[in-house]
Amino acid sequence: MNITFIGTGYVGLVSGTCFADMGFNVTCVDKDEAKIKALKDEHKIPIYEPGLEELVIKNTKAGRLNFTTDLSECVPNSDAVFLAVGTPQGDDGRADLKYIFAAAQEVAHNLKDFTVVVTKSTVPVGTNRRVAATIRQANPDADFAVASNPEFLREGAAIGDFMQPDRVVIGAEKDSVFDVMRQLYLPLTTNGAKMIETNLETAEMIKYAANAFLATKITFINEIAALCDKVGANVMDVADGMGTDARIGRAFLNAGPGYGGSCFPKDTNALAATGFDNNARLNIVETVIKTNRQLKKDMAKRVKAAVGGTLHSKRICLLGLAFKADTDDMRDSPAIDIATELQKAGAFVTAYDPQAMNNAKAILPDIKYYDDLWTAAKGADAAVIVTEWDEFKNMELAKLAESLAQPVLVDLRNLFKPEQAQDKGLKYSSIGRPQV
Ligand code: UDX
Repeated sequence: MNITFIGTGYVGLVSGTCFADMGFNVTCVDKDEAKIKALKDEHKIPIYEPGLEELVIKNTKAGRLNFTTDLSECVPNSDAVFLAVGTPQGDDGRADLKYIFAAAQEVAHNLKDFTVVVTKSTVPVGTNRRVAATIRQANPDADFAVASNPEFLREGAAIGDFMQPDRVVIGAEKDSVFDVMRQLYLPLTTNGAKMIETNLETAEMIKYAANAFLATKITFINEIAALCDKVGANVMDVADGMGTDARIGRAFLNAGPGYGGSCFPKDTNALAATGFDNNARLNIVETVIKTNRQLKKDMAKRVKAAVGGTLHSKRICLLGLAFKADTDDMRDSPAIDIATELQKAGAFVTAYDPQAMNNAKAILPDIKYYDDLWTAAKGADAAVIVTEWDEFKNMELAKLAESLAQPVLVDLRNLFKPEQAQDKGLKYSSIGRPQV
């Protein structure tokens, strides 16, 4: 089968490459000529995603993965065209769908034989029907049907998530569409992946409900952590104690500096807006959004307390800037709020991140970046772990204590045991656990 992916961001590039690796002929289309040229000529990947470069090279060489800026080269021969363009947050908190409808129109003019137009981008309930109407209006003779196929890929683990999914969700209205989608995902369902077939609206809703629930789970444990801090309980043991209950589950109960990234903040806002628009307010989701925003800001207060009550003229070193490990993505990263609040309080902020510094420089131009963790930490009044990179999990704590002007470590990811840090000479504060 021939597949086209429109949009070579995280979702389009990972999904398209994985379909090519499963044996399909895939063409990835993007309007960004420089990006396509770099992918085509040098196999240069525009993002940091473990394993992706190798897979792109392998499938390009095998002739199954192609890149172009011109969708008329591939759409007419495609059995399925996936829309994987961005749906950024608009000024009103709702998803901005202009790229989706622009892509749908362009696709419409290039459809030939029966084609399934699949929306992979995260889009509010009702959008797939609007995509169908857009195509029909642009090309009344087109032989097509739409499908909703939301993605559940975590950045940093996207290839594994695609190849071994917990489930594949397909929303459609016709058997002929389900048949095409079943064929496309056959290599995964044969390996045991569960396929959930629903109507269009349900598939769209599943994506938002899943992300909002995970964001709620994280925010719940973050609030429990704040209470643990006050009463002397240990949030990691609480998470284990709760999480072993099969009805709850241990995943996404790691307390931290608040959730960020390209999905949770945007999707919770969009879902809350859909609730508002439909007169079915989602009070829990609205509270999660507010609580997480405040929580990220409050992280600077922990640093302030750890350095003795004032940040004025203090040199604070941020270890990690990306919103989580194994990505260079800075979108809605807690590091942005933390650095901004620290600076507002008069601190001089230094930073090191193994991958995200280039992206960070555009958002946080006024902090001092270093190419390695030891020069970043040297002479600082405190080091603050913001991102859970392996490099920080494995760092020598005694060396850190020596490098810092004051041996203060604020660990917002609970990477170490408090006694372990104390033994190495550090004054250690973490999230929801006794300070030592
Ligand atoms: C998320 C969803 O997991 C994925 O299914 C969806 O399709 C896209 O959005 P992603 O944003 O890449 O993926 O990262 P994820 O691993 O889910 O983490 C999101 C945020 O939650 C990060 O800021 C992370 O640090 C935070 N988090 C996650 C916690 O604070 N604690 C946890 O236990 C888990």
